[in-house]
Amino acid sequence: MKKVITYGTYDLFHRGHYNLLKRAKALGDYLIVGVTTDNFDLERGKMNTCNNVMERIEAVKATGLADQIVIEEYRGQKIDDIQKYGVDIFAIGSDWEGYFDYLKEFCEVVYLPRTQGISSTQLRQERQTVQLGLIGTGSIANRFVSEADNVNSVQITVAYNPNSVENRFFCEEHGIVLAAQSLDELYKECNAVYIASPHYTHYEYVKSALLTGKHVLCETPFVFSKSQAEELYQIAEDMNVVLMVALKTAFTPAFGHLFSLLKSRVIGDIVEVNASVTTLTDESSEKLDSKLFGGSMSENACFPLLPIFKFLGMDFRNVNFYSKMKNDVDMYTKAVFRYDHAVASFQVGLGVKTEGSMTIAGTKGYVYVPAPWWKTDYFEVRYEDQNQNKKYFYPFVGEGLRYEIKDFVASVLSNGSRFSKISKNENIKMAEVQEQYLKGVNLFQL
Ligand code: CTP
Repeated sequence: MKKVITYGTYDLFHRGHYNLLKRAKALGDYLIVGVTTDNFDLERGKMNTCNNVMERIEAVKATGLADQIVIEEYRGQKIDDIQKYGVDIFAIGSDWEGYFDYLKEFCEVVYLPRTQGISSTQLRQERQTVQLGLIGTGSIANRFVSEADNVNSVQITVAYNPNSVENRFFCEEHGIVLAAQSLDELYKECNAVYIASPHYTHYEYVKSALLTGKHVLCETPFVFSKSQAEELYQIAEDMNVVLMVALKTAFTPAFGHLFSLLKSRVIGDIVEVNASVTTLTDESSEKLDSKLFGGSMSENACFPLLPIFKFLGMDFRNVNFYSKMKNDVDMYTKAVFRYDHAVASFQVGLGVKTEGSMTIAGTKGYVYVPAPWWKTDYFEVRYEDQNQNKKYFYPFVGEGLRYEIKDFVASVLSNGSRFSKISKNENIKMAEVQEQYLKGVNLFQL
């Protein structure tokens, strides 16, 4: 019996896929079809599949052409499968011509003609897209535009910055069709906005965009008071639009897996979380301007607050802040949270440097995430018996913003029905902590 194997993603299953499976089947007596998992696709930088792995498997099954379906989970698996299943022929579309010649050492390799005029990419592009407008054109917006190129179903159509010269320059540089002169002009050209303006302007911009019926993705820190955060979420709910905060760490694959692992109690009860984020910054920077809500807390605190809230919850008894001040802003702040059964702390700094790692201590072991933990692709779970230690690796592609963009777009296209990686309550609580700090509650100066 001649065995043939072929692989693919088979997203939005189309006649090109069908023709290829038919041609592959005709090469032998038994056809094995490998379907990539969602994680493997993410790892390969394919951010945009519309169907999940189960739907894609079902589509292949429905053709009746596959005698066996296997899941492709890792790089190098093709050789393992060829040997494991005693495969005679590896077949793939001619768009891969030459690429898989290294498999000739293990079986025959056949490149089959591709069906012209159709592909999953093309079908995805024909689907509904999110027309995104940018408010603010600083350094994070620059990175955002290039990251958005890697996400399907989103198009940046317009940008706005009150400084029209800067705005025009930004739009020309990034090939954005319209440099809007006003917010009204921006709103006419988009159905969603990404807000990357200075911190202190977030509240007004988010409110105006929501009230105009736009979905909003707002950079961190979101806002600086609990009541403002609550008000904005209420407007989003009333207007039936998505409001998401772009805290990129929450959307990265490594953080998502760390969350699931800890919830499955691999280190037992969590007793302590500690995390640091420090970035030495020039004193003339706006980030250190007290009149513009500058300072280490406003710039960086939302990052460590994320793991603290995710792993210990938001029900802490109190929080104390210890700050080193200069020109009325904190160059460094340490915060200590007391929970009933745990303690958490973080260090943030723009004028003090610390090790930027995170540790989470539990009753059975601990997790160590090396610097920079907020954009990591790797962490370790460590135990008393070192033989049980485990290292975990996950992809972190590009600047890492594409993960949050992908989730935002998916949420908009599914009318907000998707599970949010960072909840409304967590964002409101973060605003409350910032507010407490700004009011000087339990603040001790060093
Ligand atoms: N294929 C084909 N003809 C097409 C499209 C795909 O023969 N018009 C083949 C590919 O060469 C591959 C298999 O179908 O052997 C699965 O390809 P996959 O990457 O899942 O499909 P694409 O449509 O090429 O997807 P994308 O646009 O995301 O690359």
